[in-house]
Amino acid sequence: MKARLLRFYAPRGLKIVKAWMQYVWDEGWNRYLDYYNGYGVGFLGHRNPKVIAKIVEQLGTLMINSPSFDDPAKDEVLEKLPEVLPSSLLNVYFQNSGTEAVELAFKLAMNYTGRKKVVALKKSFHGRTLASLSLTWGKEYRKPVEGALYENVTFITPNSLEEMDKVDEETAAVFIEPVQGEGGINPLTAEFVQALAKRAREVGAVLVYDEIQAGFGRTGYVWAYQRLNAPDPDILLSAKAIGNGYPVSMVAVNDKIAESVVSGMHGSTYGANPTALAAVSGAIDVLIEDEVPKQAREKGKLFQDLFEEELKDLKIVRDARAIGLMIGVELRVKPSKYIQEMQKRGILTLKAGATVLRMLPPYVTTEEDIHFAVKTLKEVLQGS
Ligand SMILES: Cc1ncc(COP(=O)(O)O)c(C=O)c1O
Repeated sequence: MKARLLRFYAPRGLKIVKAWMQYVWDEGWNRYLDYYNGYGVGFLGHRNPKVIAKIVEQLGTLMINSPSFDDPAKDEVLEKLPEVLPSSLLNVYFQNSGTEAVELAFKLAMNYTGRKKVVALKKSFHGRTLASLSLTWGKEYRKPVEGALYENVTFITPNSLEEMDKVDEETAAVFIEPVQGEGGINPLTAEFVQALAKRAREVGAVLVYDEIQAGFGRTGYVWAYQRLNAPDPDILLSAKAIGNGYPVSMVAVNDKIAESVVSGMHGSTYGANPTALAAVSGAIDVLIEDEVPKQAREKGKLFQDLFEEELKDLKIVRDARAIGLMIGVELRVKPSKYIQEMQKRGILTLKAGATVLRMLPPYVTTEEDIHFAVKTLKEVLQGS
C-alpha cells in the first residue's frame, strides 16, 4: 500500500531524479532543458553552488531559530539587502511562500489606511489563500471557494487609463504585477503603472507591487518596475528566485508602513529562519556577482530576435514576447499539446493564461540552449 498525493493538476508523466543548473534528468537519465523552472523558482539555476554552499554552511550551526531571537544569518541578510532593495524599502519581513507575502501586504495596507476596498487587475494572479485568492482574477482558482472570498475587491483593466477613478478615497491598496505571470506574461505599460502609482498617491492608497514571479532579475532589472521607470511602491513582494528553490518570501515596506505595524498583528513560525536566510544571502551574492539582470536582459533579447526571425510567419502564433527571461508565446489555440511535444523533445515549458506557452529559463541558460529551444518550438508549432 502507498499513500496518494492529491492532484490538483494533471501530472506531466515524468519522474525527475536530479537537477543541475538549467537541466533536469528523469529516471531513465534523459536530460531536459528546464524552462518550467519550478514556476520560476530556480532562476539562478538548480542547486546553484553559491546558494548550496551557504545553506550547507548554515546547517552546520543553526537550522531554525525562534523569530524572537537574533542570529548571524539575519544580520548577514539585513546587511546585504541594501544592495538589491531601493533605499525607501529597507523594512523587511520573511515568510515561506508568495501567497503569505500577499496576505501580509493585504493586512498591512488595511491596518495603515483603516480602509476596506482593494483594487487589483484583471488577469492578475496573487496566490491561493483567501486574501490573495480574492485578488486573483481567474475563475478556475476562485470558483470552489467563491463564498469565502473577500468581496470588496475592484478589478480594473490592465493598461487602460480609463479606469483610474476606480482607485478612490476608500481604497486601502492597489496590487499590481508589473509583468503578469500566470495571467499570460502580460507586461504592463510604463504609462499605466506610472498613472496608477500617481492615482494611488493622490487618494492615499497603499501601492503594492507583487514581484513574486517577475522580480529578482528575471525581467532584466533587479525589480521589474524599474524597467518602467515607475516610482518605488509602498510595499514590494518577492519570493521564488530570492531563495532559488528554498521556500522563502519577502515583504519590503517603506518607513510609513513600518511605523504602522501593531504588535501581535502578524507572525510566522518559520519566518526568517536561518536556513532560508542563508539561501537568500547566497542568492543575493549570485545576483550581484554574476550580473544576473544584465544576463537576463541580453538573453531575453536573443529570444526576442530569434522569435522575430523564426516565428513571424507561423499563423498559429499571435505574439511572442520576451521580457528578459519571462517569456510568453501566445498562440491562437490552447498550448497543452505543444507543451507536451516540447517535453518529448527535451524541453520543459508550461502554460500561462488560456493560450500562452510560457518559458521561465534560468539566467544560466546558454546561447546554444536558446537557439535549440526556439528551433524546437518552431518545429513543434509547425507540426514537423
Ligand atoms: C505574481 C505571483 N504572486 C503570488 C504567487 C503565489 O506564490 P506561492 O505559490 O509561493 O504561494 C505567485 C505564484 O506563482 C505569483 O506568480
